[in-house]
Amino acid sequence: MTLYLDNAATTFPKPAGVREAMVQALEELGGSPGRAGHRLAREASAAVFSCRVKVARLLGVSDPRRIVFTKNATEGINIVLKGWLRPGDGVIISGMEHNAVVRPLRRLSLAGVQVRTVPCDPRGEIDLEALAEELSKVPRLMVLNHASNVNGALQPLASVLELCRAKGVPLLLDAAQTAGIQPLDLEAWGVGMMACSGHKALLGPPGVGILYIRPDLDVLPLMDGGTGSRSEEDAQPDFFPDRHESGTLNLPGIAGLAAGIDFITDRGVSELCRHEIELARILEGGLEEMPGITVYKPGKRGTGAVSFNVAGMNPESVAHLLDELFQIAVRPGLHCAPLAHRTLMTFPEGTVRVSPGFSNSLEEMRSFLDSLGSLLSRRGQAPR
Ligand code: ALA
Repeated sequence: MTLYLDNAATTFPKPAGVREAMVQALEELGGSPGRAGHRLAREASAAVFSCRVKVARLLGVSDPRRIVFTKNATEGINIVLKGWLRPGDGVIISGMEHNAVVRPLRRLSLAGVQVRTVPCDPRGEIDLEALAEELSKVPRLMVLNHASNVNGALQPLASVLELCRAKGVPLLLDAAQTAGIQPLDLEAWGVGMMACSGHKALLGPPGVGILYIRPDLDVLPLMDGGTGSRSEEDAQPDFFPDRHESGTLNLPGIAGLAAGIDFITDRGVSELCRHEIELARILEGGLEEMPGITVYKPGKRGTGAVSFNVAGMNPESVAHLLDELFQIAVRPGLHCAPLAHRTLMTFPEGTVRVSPGFSNSLEEMRSFLDSLGSLLSRRGQAPR
């Protein structure tokens, strides 16, 4: 059986309730949410609303209508960047951002948006002094990856928010890696916008993501279309969540996400976080004892993602051999985050990333370390 250690890409397995909720949605909730008054459509709408309420509670948002369902974190980030920034506007990003941020901004920069990158130290933590200086130019937006998908580095969000608030600059929080595993209290913290996926630490299926936008920030929709509301008008509704939810929603995905959140609420975010970080520490400790291995440790760890390299081997070969010889699934390379790898000084080869999740055990971490040790000793004997 595969030892799955690629939870930063997508969590696997999902809690049993996720599959059950999705099957139930397909078998019993046949209607299109918000699109008719018949019983099946009403039940579908109720399921969607119930998930909105669960998400809002988990993220510290008082009005569930501010929770927009997207297809993934990338879509939410694109909605904000393209619906908020105008030619001539400035936007600050950190040196740990993912291509979900870097690539849309590259396109926008061709249309006159000015992108400034605040450096992070080689462990991935943002330079707050450099940030304060950039914020003094009063850009229109700051974007921050809450925790890195490469090495789990958690940013000092409270300090970043304080600096942004002082200049009146809204923060778009990329919580793709942290929603479900780190506490989030978006309203109390004054976060402007937040995008995350539903299939990572929120334990839902792929194909559903979440976007939050604070009521005072008018982000133009990326897509216009049918919303099931105000059908007599040809203009896109200006109220939430309809403003950003054109087209039929992913009902089975949303039902699965609700079950994932139920699991998180039962276990508790802090317990899930404690477990994952304990697993990461075992990995880091074991890896550091192996000769020829470099571990790219974060300053402050926010998730279980651990990145390392083996001297004289490229990351793809290590991952391939782990898969071939031991059925261990890890992700090598740049993890769609070349900017973060430049910061960690692992560009262009990248790293081997091991990312445990809620279902992994301490024994599995030891088993991974034993397998890697065995791979390295075989390699020492074999011609290269
Ligand atoms: N960005 C995801 C990862 O880190 C897909 O693997």
